[in-house]
Amino acid sequence: MNNKNEWFNNARFGMFIHWGIYSIPAQGEWVRYHNDISIEDYDKYAEQFNPVDFDPAEWADIAWDAGMRYVVFTTKHHDGFCMYDSKHTDFKITNTPYGKDITAELVVAFRAKGLKIGFYHSLVDWRHPHYIPDGEHPDGKNGQTEFLDRDLTIYRDYLYKQVEQLLTDYGKIDLLFFDYTSKYKESSEWQAERLLELIYSLQPEILVNDRLSYDKTPVFYGDYCTPEISLPNQQPVIDGKAVDWETCMTLNNNWGYNATDQAFKDPNTVIRSVIHCASMNGNLLLNVGPDAMGKIPAETVEILAEVGEWFDKYEQTIYNTHATKWTPPVGCYYTAADEKTLYLHLVNPLMGDLILPQLNDKVKRITVLADGSEVTLVTFWGTELLKADELRIRPPKHLSAETIDVLKIELK
Ligand code: GLC
Repeated sequence: MNNKNEWFNNARFGMFIHWGIYSIPAQGEWVRYHNDISIEDYDKYAEQFNPVDFDPAEWADIAWDAGMRYVVFTTKHHDGFCMYDSKHTDFKITNTPYGKDITAELVVAFRAKGLKIGFYHSLVDWRHPHYIPDGEHPDGKNGQTEFLDRDLTIYRDYLYKQVEQLLTDYGKIDLLFFDYTSKYKESSEWQAERLLELIYSLQPEILVNDRLSYDKTPVFYGDYCTPEISLPNQQPVIDGKAVDWETCMTLNNNWGYNATDQAFKDPNTVIRSVIHCASMNGNLLLNVGPDAMGKIPAETVEILAEVGEWFDKYEQTIYNTHATKWTPPVGCYYTAADEKTLYLHLVNPLMGDLILPQLNDKVKRITVLADGSEVTLVTFWGTELLKADELRIRPPKHLSAETIDVLKIELK
């Protein structure tokens, strides 16, 4: 696609961080909505927030060592609380006992590590006095209508000023993840074109996600699209054009920290998902939800460390790769480094020989990537039931059922 998207398409794996004062009630970032918490009561979490264990360099290490190459951080979530030193509201991190600009600290540490920097910024705002409550707002969910004195254009000005500050005070920002336009709020409410103009004038290289649009109609705004908690069956196509994309995914079942949610995905599920995305020219943005002390939960750290061990061995099969025209065997995935080099990801334990569609007479050599050992092409028997263009291969028996092995296929 677009050249400015190049780093994004090479990175393939990023860390989403949902962190805010909602980590104190520890029931996810929608807690104010779900538990009908009043503004006054919710403000108490800002008065308490003091994540003394927060170590941004440690987080950057965790992300980098897992194989992630960019980060997307919640500068403001739907609750309206700013995790940066906003000039336009008092409801912000520098007014908590913690007192420091967390976004600034995080940007410095992650950038130093070599990670690209993305800001999540919520279009939805449950705190601003002129944001008009709707069905997805704590004060509008029961159909209340007494909001006639509100003027969304005042909120829009606030949004613009917030975005302007975020794109001015923190150096080069690589990506902006807006969240979200819905059936209740149209793209026109944000004046999406005008907002994008402002954004690109401040940061010409920045990538903006697609959530200034709703259901992609009437226009698709932005530089890439963002399916959520699902893996698509093919690269998304908009207006007849394949678009760059990233799926965002929770590691358990929550974005914001939830103390009781232990339903973590295992490392192989994560690895399989990155492979799935890469095989379709997409990225996986995997979420972590740090707690109120500023720690990334221990389970998360363990899972990411294991994912990182796999990346140590196989990173060249993910970074800088792209989709290929060739069809993999059922239950496997291909990524391609170039026209002649395919990586075949064995995401399921093998059951005997593998049959590669379309590749008969096209293969020069196949090896096990981890140790360079040769994979036999089975041409001497068992071919009578194959289609003419199919090739049967015999991966060596030492491949383990526990790890996701990769075969390197060199084409003629
Ligand atoms: C949804 C949720 C929000 C979360 C986001 C992540 O929009 O409302 O809480 O931050 O998904 O993409």
